Amino acid sequence: MRPIQVLPSILAADFASLGAEVEAATKAGADQIHVDVMDGHFVPNISFGPALVQAIRPHSMQPFDVHLMVAPVDAWLVPFAAAGADRLTVHVEAGPHLHRTLQAIRGLGKQAGVALTPGTPASAVAPVLDLVDLICVMTVNTGFGGQKFIAAMLPKIAELRAMTAGRVIDIEVDGGVTAHNAGEIAQAGGNLLVAGSSVFKDGPSAYAANVKAIRDAAESARGIRV
Ligand code: DX5
Ligand code: ZN
Repeated sequence: MRPIQVLPSILAADFASLGAEVEAATKAGADQIHVDVMDGHFVPNISFGPALVQAIRPHSMQPFDVHLMVAPVDAWLVPFAAAGADRLTVHVEAGPHLHRTLQAIRGLGKQAGVALTPGTPASAVAPVLDLVDLICVMTVNTGFGGQKFIAAMLPKIAELRAMTAGRVIDIEVDGGVTAHNAGEIAQAGGNLLVAGSSVFKDGPSAYAANVKAIRDAAESARGIRV
């Protein structure tokens, strides 16, 4: 079984203090930092560019998991890799040349991820399993934080876990993740839990408890802890 990890999404952090927020999330137990890049074209929202990733990179020792909600995406791989991304995740829906894009990410020496919006079936990633380190199952419609978890995605998580059996591929779950649904996500086979609103709530002094609640719910549902 792949380890359970909690990845705070800084989309829900205080943008006026992002460096401090990344430090606080790291200190609170973040296993990786999830960075949501939105282009106002592939998704109906705009967030961060590579300069911001570069600016916050020194504020954490943990890996930066960069979720590119961008189309076309190829021109942005080098800038985000250079800015300090450890993994680049691209959407299967973002263009016809997914295979080439994933090859390019690996060619940059970065981990490669592929993301699926809720309307895309698990089978869409079958042709590229040899090229990915992670599959991101979106459990909200891409573009905004703070939405409600779509529980109908749980069977898709299970299907992808079965499809990737025997491979070193993380199944990331992104959107509406809380301590209340982390257990069923882990049981379905999700092991990387992205959480924005449910981590960055109630001020920095609450972040450690927020991260722990998600981790504990996932690990105990898997039977790792009692
Ligand atoms: C949505 C983003 C998510 C989102 C998670 O397009 O990819 O990472 O910010 O935020 P919450 O946990 O608030 O749904
Ligand atoms: Zn995301």
